Amino acid sequence: MVEIREASLADAAVLDEMVRELAAHENSLEHVHVDAGRWRHLLARPDVTVLIAESDGAAIGFTSTVRRLHLWSGGDLLALDDLYVRPEHRDKGVGGALMSAVARLAARDDISVIWGVRLDNHSGQRFYARLGATLNTKMTASWTPDRYRRHLATTAH
Ligand SMILES: CC(C)(COP(=O)(O)OP(=O)(O)OC[C@H]1O[C@@H](n2cnc3c(N)ncnc32)[C@H](O)[C@@H]1OP(=O)(O)O)[C@@H](O)C(=O)NCCC(=O)NCCS
Repeated sequence: MVEIREASLADAAVLDEMVRELAAHENSLEHVHVDAGRWRHLLARPDVTVLIAESDGAAIGFTSTVRRLHLWSGGDLLALDDLYVRPEHRDKGVGGALMSAVARLAARDDISVIWGVRLDNHSGQRFYARLGATLNTKMTASWTPDRYRRHLATTAH
């Protein structure tokens, strides 16, 4: 029996564990700087909602969202950050149930949900298309402080 509920501050440690499992799965562990202590702080924010999937009282997956302003619409949207189901619990509908919980969360305020999926994640794209999501391609750019400072140091403008 899988239950989905909103995470509380008491979930910080297990959330930290699952975020690291997901990052390891994506070979991106070096980019995770958040820890359980920081999660306790983040979970207290009104714009952050994390949903935890549990089976027999044990966490088996999660999804994290941030509600944020969308200037062109003048309203908010729900930005989905991570979706993760622990390997031994996959392909049993838990990911789909987490996405339905995200939809219910967004439906409370009638706001859209946005998220990214890697171009090479074909199973992910199939999964999201089945849910009725629109899939568009767009490249993302990022500018780390060391890179934009280097730019500023070499530009006259
Ligand atoms: C994606 C994920 C959350 C799906 O969870 P789940 O509980 O297995 O999902 P469901 O049982 O509801 O649905 C299973 C479907 O998800 C698909 N899926 C989507 N992304 C997948 C992924 N990265 N790895 C494996 N299966 C994935 C499965 O292929 C299956 O679809 P199919 O029948 O067309 O093959 C889970 O596979 C996962 O945590 N993967 C690793 C992290 C990840 O890729 N997150 C999404 C990033 S965009």
